[in-house]
Amino acid sequence: MNIETYQFGYSVYESSDELSSEDKSLLDKARVITQKAYAPYSEFHVGAVALLKNGEFVNGTNQENASYPVSICAERTLLSSAAMLHTDIPIDIMAIAYHNLNGKSDKPVSPCGMCRQALHEYSQRTHSPIRLILSGMEGKVFIIDHSDDLLPLSFGGDDLKTN
Ligand code: THU
Repeated sequence: MNIETYQFGYSVYESSDELSSEDKSLLDKARVITQKAYAPYSEFHVGAVALLKNGEFVNGTNQENASYPVSICAERTLLSSAAMLHTDIPIDIMAIAYHNLNGKSDKPVSPCGMCRQALHEYSQRTHSPIRLILSGMEGKVFIIDHSDDLLPLSFGGDDLKTN
């Protein structure tokens, strides 16, 4: 019997003022785009903006539904748009911000499990890691160099191969 360990490091910044100008500008865009969320039920407005390898930007916000499970997160809205609009172009960086209308928005939140799986698939199909910038409307910022770090022992297309 062996015990395997999994460890990953991420960068923590006290505020967006400490970021490079490129990272800060992407996070600022994500913070602004939270205004486009459709979240009348949770009132938790999430905005995501990606910079693609071809220099294009793609946005996503959460889109809720009165039938709650039909709702889709900002990250997956973005990934679907990116795959359609810029097929096979890798995503370099994705900034994800949120504005909680019923509470504070001053510490980073990280993508839900379903979005981690969707990020993993996008990264696999484009053969490229996705760097994540996570924050609220103010306060600390986390930078995770590879979104796959958030999904240890991931399940993917290779697992479905027959040999
Ligand atoms: N949500 C996202 O859009 N992204 C996340 O990473 C976490 C949660 C959305 C889903 C739902 O519309 C609302 O936030 C509250 O869970």
